[in-house]
Amino acid sequence: MCGIVGYVGKRTAQNVLLNGLKRLEYRGYDSAGIATLDDNNRPHIARSIGKIAELENVLLTKPHDGHLGIGHTRWATHGGVTVTNAHPHHVGNIYLVHNGIIENYKELKEKLSKYNFQSDTDTEVFAALIDSNYKDGISLKDAVAKAAKQVRGTYGIAVFSPNEPNTLIVARLGSPLIIGLGQNETIIASDASALLGYTREAIYLNDGELAVCTDKGAEVFNLNLKHLNANHETIDGNVEQIQKGGYQHFLLKEIMEQATTLHNTLSGRIDPKLGKMHLGGPNLTEEEMRNIKHIVIVGCGTAYYAGLLASYYMEQLVPDLTIEVVIASEYRYRSFHLPKDSVALIVSQSGETADTLACLREIKKRGIKTLGIVNVVGSTIAREVDGGTYVHAGPEISVASTKAFTAQVVTMVMFAGMLAEYHSGNAELISKITKELSELPKEIETTLKKHHDEVKALAKKYAKYNDALYLGRDTAYPIALEGALKLKEISYIHAEGYASGELKHGPIALVDETFFEVFSIIDNWLFDKSIGGLHEVRARGGKTIVLTNSDAEIDADDIIRINSKIKILAPLLLNTLQQLFAYYIAVDRGNDVDQPRNLAKSVTVE
Ligand code: F6R
Repeated sequence: MCGIVGYVGKRTAQNVLLNGLKRLEYRGYDSAGIATLDDNNRPHIARSIGKIAELENVLLTKPHDGHLGIGHTRWATHGGVTVTNAHPHHVGNIYLVHNGIIENYKELKEKLSKYNFQSDTDTEVFAALIDSNYKDGISLKDAVAKAAKQVRGTYGIAVFSPNEPNTLIVARLGSPLIIGLGQNETIIASDASALLGYTREAIYLNDGELAVCTDKGAEVFNLNLKHLNANHETIDGNVEQIQKGGYQHFLLKEIMEQATTLHNTLSGRIDPKLGKMHLGGPNLTEEEMRNIKHIVIVGCGTAYYAGLLASYYMEQLVPDLTIEVVIASEYRYRSFHLPKDSVALIVSQSGETADTLACLREIKKRGIKTLGIVNVVGSTIAREVDGGTYVHAGPEISVASTKAFTAQVVTMVMFAGMLAEYHSGNAELISKITKELSELPKEIETTLKKHHDEVKALAKKYAKYNDALYLGRDTAYPIALEGALKLKEISYIHAEGYASGELKHGPIALVDETFFEVFSIIDNWLFDKSIGGLHEVRARGGKTIVLTNSDAEIDADDIIRINSKIKILAPLLLNTLQQLFAYYIAVDRGNDVDQPRNLAKSVTVE
């Protein structure tokens, strides 16, 4: 969603801010802006709706070389997509960018009636509040701290005032802020990708903290203005990882690089010779591992589907476990009870998803241990869980999640493999899955290469359809849900995923020649039943595509057969083909593949 950058130092702020905003584009936004102070201490604001390129055009007419400024990409929450609602907001002596939502902004707005508000945003009210505190000789830091205590809601903010021309104030509550410390420069951002290439040293601000940033570094305080000793951490990743690397879109790059990223996910964590899996991060004693009887897996969207797929494997690997997979936006408000011998797996690519984070906090309140299955290092969820494991998929820039899904499933399977050792788990299965995991990166690479052109041609054939059903049983069922999600979010084709056993309970009424159906069929004991569902659809004129690892004769309009030694984990291979299929359909329909309409990469509001 919204993104923040800020800069104070030796470089031309305008350039650093624009570069930073481009790095944050992937998060999804509908308008953007920057405010800078020039060397004569005069403020300049430029804002525009649409892409950063529009903002760049505006700035071309007003280039200047100030060395301090703030920038923002906005994903509208309060008020429509207009230049006036875009950030930065300027009120009195205050220039402010803000991520998050101020819940009591209406009340505050009434109290601040002396201000002539221009926009419909909560952010402008926040700026006015800071300005109203910024008087009687109090510093900007103190004015921000006071305002931060008066607002209710969430915020990550960056503020400056021409009255204190070498200072940026940043603060956070529930919305990330990272302070990059360079040589005579400080660059702040809501996302570490904006800092790559400038510095590796950073302070990750915690909730309820603010920092005074100058070109000499940053000092951190709590809201009572007590000075805090902040940890200096090293930022993960490099600039190449956030570039397209010769691909037309990030999405294609991220689909195609799954062999490499999965290798990183697995590295040092499996031993196929001994049939062992081991994760370092869960932070659980042997006794705690033995005592786990119940697992709840929490996530949203693709992360939820990853949890669902992993649960099928986990219950086979550890037969005495009860596993529940829940959608975070629902679970957070339910009166749920978890037995004391539970562990919660909190699954999130970004580590910032508001609903998932809220669940994590609810679960912690009940005294249950939480483990993160997170991709973004240093993210809020990663910092708040009791333990956990990074999935090491590398930066995922395209809004639709692909490589993170594969990495999340595999990481949870490894967790179950490790747990199985303490629960007299299914040793034969552990050994088989460990072997398959070791072969999976290579097999993904081969599958994607071998079937690339076939999938592309298939996408062309089906790109004009408006409706699709994705169907599968057992481990192919979560894949059906994920396949439908991928297709709808990037191609805008209406697609629904179902367990094929559910067909007769309703969805089969939809089937006619205007729909196409994608069946993922795994060569296992349910094969004949899956084929039964396929026949039912064909008998009613549905156009059928089958993705399978079986070489049995199958009657369908189109079939893609993968020939792989991977059997148990075959759904992950079929899923990579679904990803590619959705990608090429979206390209064919001329969509903005990496930043689909209305979507944001990291959903930091409810
Ligand atoms: C789908 C997608 C979303 C995310 C969901 C959770 O392609 O990207 O459904 O999976 O918003 O996001 P994270 O994993 O960041 O918590």
